[in-house]
Amino acid sequence: MKIVNSIQNLKQELQAYRNNGKTIGLVPTMGALHRGHASLVSRSLDENDVTVVSIFVNPTQFNDKKDLEKYPRTLEKDCELLKSLADENATLIVFAPSVEEVYPEPDTRSFSYPPTDEVMEGSFRPGHFNGVCQVVSKLFMYVEPTRAYFGEKDFQQIAVIRRMVEDQKFPLQICPCPIIREKDGLALSSRNSLLSAEERELALNISKNLFASLEYAKTHTLVETREWVVKQINAVEGLEVQYYEIVDGESLRSLDSWDESNYIVGCITVFCGAIPVRLIDNIKYKE
Ligand code: PAF
Repeated sequence: MKIVNSIQNLKQELQAYRNNGKTIGLVPTMGALHRGHASLVSRSLDENDVTVVSIFVNPTQFNDKKDLEKYPRTLEKDCELLKSLADENATLIVFAPSVEEVYPEPDTRSFSYPPTDEVMEGSFRPGHFNGVCQVVSKLFMYVEPTRAYFGEKDFQQIAVIRRMVEDQKFPLQICPCPIIREKDGLALSSRNSLLSAEERELALNISKNLFASLEYAKTHTLVETREWVVKQINAVEGLEVQYYEIVDGESLRSLDSWDESNYIVGCITVFCGAIPVRLIDNIKYKE
């Protein structure tokens, strides 16, 4: 496993592979890696000749400075986890640049893909997806991957990135990977490390109610199901739903009835605890 910090070194490392027609997998991350990331990296290692894992806490996608400051940074531990995933023959490159390396000057590009980047996270975190598109497009330009891997926990992010790939004509395949959960259902997230033991117990109510809603949805309308999920979770002291939307899985358009689409996903954001940790999760009703 190699760790590179500069774009120039990264490009040099990859050039030989590209010249020999080798496939390149990219797993973009902000570090604080967990089993969810590990599943993306393992898949990329299986499917490509070389895998690049980027570790970069991207400032332009945080609209809240405090959130950016408290985002966990654990580079050494991350590298240990990555080392344990790659066998001797696998080629794994960790790209861990500084902010100055990625943004030598402010990125003034703006990306707009309505409605995917306007609804849900887009409306509560203005500028968030613009920042995601800025950094992901830069990574795509540095790495020129054959395939790029993203976790479905950030369901909306994948929909926005798909639109950007189409718009910018990046010749690569987006590979969505299923949410990895703890045995008790909690969706793995780097932010879980910010939860106390009691808050973690509270957070379990999110996935528990999303799963229960699959059963509820069989005998209730979409609108009733949406309201039921919000009511169930808000009834738990210490949890507050920011939004729960049941949307078309491609356009992310809000739906009012189960008949409106063959691909239906419920996306939720919940504040958990006294110094609230913002947790997201989602569930597929139809696929
Ligand atoms: O999903 C994330 O961790 C980030 O949004 C990403 C894709 C690495 C861009 O910074």
